[in-house]
Amino acid sequence: MPDKKIKLALFASGTGSNVARIVDYFRQSSRVECSLIVCNKQGAGVLQIAEKEGIDTVLLDKETFFRGDAYTGFLQEAGIDWIILAGFLWKIPPALIRAWPEHIINIHPALLPAYGGKGMYGRHVHEAVLQNGEKESGITIHLVDEQYDHGRTLFQARCPVEPGDTPETLAKRVQALEHTHFPRVIEELVS
Ligand code: GAR
Repeated sequence: MPDKKIKLALFASGTGSNVARIVDYFRQSSRVECSLIVCNKQGAGVLQIAEKEGIDTVLLDKETFFRGDAYTGFLQEAGIDWIILAGFLWKIPPALIRAWPEHIINIHPALLPAYGGKGMYGRHVHEAVLQNGEKESGITIHLVDEQYDHGRTLFQARCPVEPGDTPETLAKRVQALEHTHFPRVIEELVS
């Protein structure tokens, strides 16, 4: 009997460019499978990716999600081994963290611990980096704990902030780092 594949649930709220990269990276994998795309926003781009790829989706209900362990049983029954937050903007409830100890990871578009915390996502992060005149930014991939952007760092990559950068140009450079590194870091971690 072949080994059971490692099953990922990809949580995303937005466009889903990272989800698209991750799905593409593991398409031919004999070890890792993107089993489920979990989204909290109706109409989010990531749902179109899921449809195109034929991956099952779950659209989260806010009240149910924050009630605690409401989705835990469902994800356990689906056999999910790792939860990957790829642009997911809700805080993960403690019950979910307890059910997947050290098996939930997040990507953040800055060099944590700087520029993290509540409200620090997407464009807001890049605006703050530019306002403070930073010379570099980057990405952080980290374990998820009960505080925003706080768990143990697993990987960081850096890029320069160029003179004349706007939040958009900086976001593009940071996103390129995400697309290059995130799938590979996931593979190393879960294998
Ligand atoms: C990514 O840049 C990710 O780092 C960020 O959301 C973006 C999602 O883009 N996450 C956070 O800011 C979490 N605090 P995508 O939908 O194109 O993958």
